[in-house]
Amino acid sequence: MMFKVPRGTKDLLPAETGSWQAVESLIRETCRLYRYEEIRTPVFEQTELFTRSVGDTTDIVQKEMYTFEDRGGRSLTLRPEGTAPVVRAFVENKLFGSPDQPVKLYYMGPMFRYERQQAGRYRQFVQFGVEAIGSDSPAIDAEVISLAMDVYQRAGLKDLRLVINSLGDMESRNAHREALIRHFEPSIGEFCSDCRNRLEKNPLRILDCKVDRDHPLMKTAPALTDYLNGESEAYFEEVKTALDALGIEYVVDPNLVRGLDYYNHTAFEIMSTSDGFGAITTLCGGGRYNGLSEEIGGPEAPGIGFAMSIERFLMALEAEGKMTETESRLDAFIVALDEESRKEAVKILGNLRREGIAADMDYMNRKMKAQMKAADRQKAGYVIVIGEDELKNGAAGVKNMAEGTQETVEFTRLAETLKSRS
Ligand code: HAM
Repeated sequence: MMFKVPRGTKDLLPAETGSWQAVESLIRETCRLYRYEEIRTPVFEQTELFTRSVGDTTDIVQKEMYTFEDRGGRSLTLRPEGTAPVVRAFVENKLFGSPDQPVKLYYMGPMFRYERQQAGRYRQFVQFGVEAIGSDSPAIDAEVISLAMDVYQRAGLKDLRLVINSLGDMESRNAHREALIRHFEPSIGEFCSDCRNRLEKNPLRILDCKVDRDHPLMKTAPALTDYLNGESEAYFEEVKTALDALGIEYVVDPNLVRGLDYYNHTAFEIMSTSDGFGAITTLCGGGRYNGLSEEIGGPEAPGIGFAMSIERFLMALEAEGKMTETESRLDAFIVALDEESRKEAVKILGNLRREGIAADMDYMNRKMKAQMKAADRQKAGYVIVIGEDELKNGAAGVKNMAEGTQETVEFTRLAETLKSRS
């Protein structure tokens, strides 16, 4: 029987992990500049955490969660996203008690959603996300958006489009909700069963319906922007002013709604506008979630954050021809010509590595020529040759591969010599 990687997941082979590492270190470095610290939460949580926060009428909760019962009869779910777990950890570990507020956190790790597989959409994917919890200053909204843009721009991406919107506060959202119910209720019998369910629970989701999208009532539905109260409008203005101050370009799209229920006020997405990019153009999504902490039993702690998948980040780099990878350097390769030399090579290899020199040797009993070829393939900086004569003299032949020069160096001075050359 041949086993295959599960649908919607993939192996990352060494040919790809170099570019992953390059992106990961750029992300960590950017977070350091913005003073966001790393948090790591478990990959599974109590199921209810997600049904409550992401929302039980959302696609994620209704169709996409990997939920299972453990041997103790508890319902657990592989995390489909990182915000709810991070806010849970913020509440449970009483981070709200720290004098340094807001608490600025970032995470990078696998998320799981049972979605239809296509380019840029996987069932296991890695999200990098940040959450700034404890402040409702519009300036922190701009900081979070700026961090996301910065990560992409430092990686060299240019074809980006930042779209922002305001979903308003609870009062505005409730007023809009009532208006939607008034709009759809008289004709709800003409809609699908999903929409009929959504009418009371979450009428906003009716607007996302794929079955009824051509119903005439869809086009005339009341727009959220018409229901923003003065406070929400003023907040949104301040976010825009802060973005302007940072020199960040954006487009306001009143139709931008996000697929998770915990959002209010600022919502944003970053898209790739590159020609080479596939059908799914959203690279990053985020927004404000005042009230989420209270929803899951914590104190009042307004928050904002975003998440982006590394998979789509790399697709965008590929589309713009900006792929880079961390270089895995091989400083020295030892070519040993017989059994005795191989024993000495093992010893030298150990010494070199202890001194911080990346070194390797042949373990396939290859002939000298094949060993030289292997050193070449792996782009070794130096080749150290040990044979019968070298053993007798206690000194190896050291070849500088870039320059083609050769010298003889005592075994005991190999590490020191190579270090002085690097
Ligand atoms: P989201 O929009 O569901 O938001 O996901 C954010 C990003 O995760 C997407 O823009 C995309 O880059 C990536 N993503 C989502 N699903 C997949 C998938 N199946 N395959 C590959 N990439 C995917 C959230 O998850 C929120 N927690 C973001 C947030 C943080 N809001 C506030 N703080």
